[in-house]
Amino acid sequence: MLRTPPSSPGPESPRSAQSSQPSQPSQPSQPSQPSQSHRTGRPLPAADPDPLGSPWPASARPGPNGDLLIGGVGLAEAADRFGTPLYVLDEQEFRSRARAFRRALPTAEVFYAAKAFLCSAVVDWAADEGLGLDVCSAGELRLAAAAGFPPERILLHGNAKTPEELRLARRLRVGRIVVDGAAEIPRLAALAVADAPQRVLVRVLPGVAAGHHRAVRTGVDGQKFGFRIAGGDAADAVARILGQPGLRLTGLHCHLGSQITEAGPYLAAVDRLVGLLAEIRDRHGVELPELDLGGGYGVRYLAGDAELDPDRFAAELTARLAARCAEHGLAVPRLLVEPGRAIAAPAGVALYRVLSVKRGTDGRAFAAVDGGMSDNPRPALYGSAYQVRTVGRPTDGPTATFDVVGRHCEAGDVLVHGATLPADLRPGDLLAVPVAGAYQLSMASGYNLVGRPPVAAVREGRLRLLIRRETVEDLRAREVGR
Ligand code: LLP
Repeated sequence: MLRTPPSSPGPESPRSAQSSQPSQPSQPSQPSQPSQSHRTGRPLPAADPDPLGSPWPASARPGPNGDLLIGGVGLAEAADRFGTPLYVLDEQEFRSRARAFRRALPTAEVFYAAKAFLCSAVVDWAADEGLGLDVCSAGELRLAAAAGFPPERILLHGNAKTPEELRLARRLRVGRIVVDGAAEIPRLAALAVADAPQRVLVRVLPGVAAGHHRAVRTGVDGQKFGFRIAGGDAADAVARILGQPGLRLTGLHCHLGSQITEAGPYLAAVDRLVGLLAEIRDRHGVELPELDLGGGYGVRYLAGDAELDPDRFAAELTARLAARCAEHGLAVPRLLVEPGRAIAAPAGVALYRVLSVKRGTDGRAFAAVDGGMSDNPRPALYGSAYQVRTVGRPTDGPTATFDVVGRHCEAGDVLVHGATLPADLRPGDLLAVPVAGAYQLSMASGYNLVGRPPVAAVREGRLRLLIRRETVEDLRAREVGR
């Protein structure tokens, strides 16, 4: 469903207190309160308060001449330095969101879902903050390993892992593998290492539908992921894994969907999964010690949108888990969670330059920018709504309604429908789109060979380039025949 974004607010909206200090988690496989970078040894910056009601990073401040400062850096300066389209990541926003999850669930293991967005700097941030890493491909796994992420804190999942991916995971000694289909069980068992059984979880379908779009609802029967609980598929998989000496079954896994803004679906999943844990105990005499609820924690894309609050979510979840376990006479398993979007999305801002402004025949106005569905396919794929504002020019004059459209050769290449922008918007103006840190660049394509945008990070007034712009030479370098 498309929604019309309200006029783009600046970062001036009231901010609520989100404690700036990380908690002191007490789990063995993740470091306790992180205080310095795992790579540089430098002290980590303190977190800023989080804005309530605004989708901009907590560090956002109005700058001179209509500029917007993120992490102490003017977005207009960033665009001048690295060109547009440009993605800017607020390192502190990423870190403070990671900390918020760890603080909310101090005895849980929090895995950052790499699919939201991954590069070596993000690997460092996740490692520093004591997160695990959830990867779903050899690419994500190799990048993380090459950047120095501890393999025992990596969890591999995926509905169609290749034999090579499984081999790589075993060779690198990843901590856990989520079994998603029957064929993986003998494959993994064949890779067994005598002195080091592979910890595995079984992905099950709790039958709970949740998420912002049909395409991302993965917790129900009738789609490609996991084992059904109903019909006994999950119980059979559990029995087969328990029969493999090279595999150590540590628990159940599920992932309901993405952009879920309330705890209800997770509570329903807990009910089903604890029921299954009790069945496994009754049938096999084992109490599995882990329950992985996957990701899906929703964020605010538009001012006033609902957002899943990690603290409230954690309180409801742990109460429900304790109650259900008590009913079944089970010890409370350790929770694992895999937030991706909730950590990365609000840390990103996409910057575009207006290339042309047009009036359509029906009175619609179009602002065409230098990016589009190749760097952000979400509006075209899911009808996702975004806010947008100008930066680096006065914003107090009359406004008009524009569709912000991309540069690609499709009428459906619309980034923002019905945006309120200055009526005199003109070519050369800069537009900033918040909440751009997840599932945009990670799903970016090579459409029209425009090249994927660069990624810069901001932190304490410093701007640095993490990934350079993709050039036609990069694309041509892959061509090996004609
Ligand atoms: N764990 C598993 C097993 C997953 O499949 C996913 C996301 C996550 C964790 C992280 O979910 P998150 O916390 O980021 O919602 N492209 C879509 C989202 C697809 C999510 C796929 N799986 C979008 O742009 O909305």
